[in-house]
Amino acid sequence: MIVAPSLLSADFGNLQRDVEMLNVSSADWIHIDVMDGVFVPNISFGFPVMKAIQRVATKPLDVHLMIQNPQNYISQVRDCGAMMMNVHQEVCEHLDRTIQAIKNAGMKAAVTLNPSTPVVMLEDVIADLDMVLLMSVNPGFGGQKFIPYTIDKIVRLRQLIETSGSKALIEIDGGINAETGAMVAAAGADVLVAGNYVFGAADPQQAILSLKQL
Ligand code: DX5
Ligand code: ZN
Repeated sequence: MIVAPSLLSADFGNLQRDVEMLNVSSADWIHIDVMDGVFVPNISFGFPVMKAIQRVATKPLDVHLMIQNPQNYISQVRDCGAMMMNVHQEVCEHLDRTIQAIKNAGMKAAVTLNPSTPVVMLEDVIADLDMVLLMSVNPGFGGQKFIPYTIDKIVRLRQLIETSGSKALIEIDGGINAETGAMVAAAGADVLVAGNYVFGAADPQQAILSLKQL
């Protein structure tokens, strides 16, 4: 299992300390949640903070943009050191063009679906994607409860990937802990994002390890 702890639940007053903890943990990637207060009802942080994270992080950065017009920020996201750029399907009128632009900028391309957006929306672009991120909560906040119908979406997405010959990974984001992590792992997930479960734990390194072993 690939594990990507979300810095949204980190202590922003001690961001360097928390990134350094992830550097020496068994986490594979660092998940970075950017929110604009328009697409989602919350604002997190933007490029200056991402730059600061980039200076300290030694693990690949998985950037999840919960913003409108993500196609306008591709070069800035790349310059912040992103390995993966996730854009929401719901805000991309020209999704194919945006996917190609992300890859041309030298990043891996991922498309994110809200809980209410069906997997079939990606049928025609799935072969071009490096990853699909299925939201298992409504985006905007950490610490929410996992939405159970995500399990059926993972199964449908796995079928779509197999029938199309796509190499896309399946990432799940929202309400992931040891229990829900085991459920999504059994359904076919490749990557787990976890915020509250990691940073709310008495021993964050152990929490990461418990997801790694699923
Ligand atoms: C929510 C973000 C998530 C969030 C997950 O909108 O996309 O990445 O940090 O937090 P938990 O794991 O606490 O649900
Ligand atoms: Zn996220």
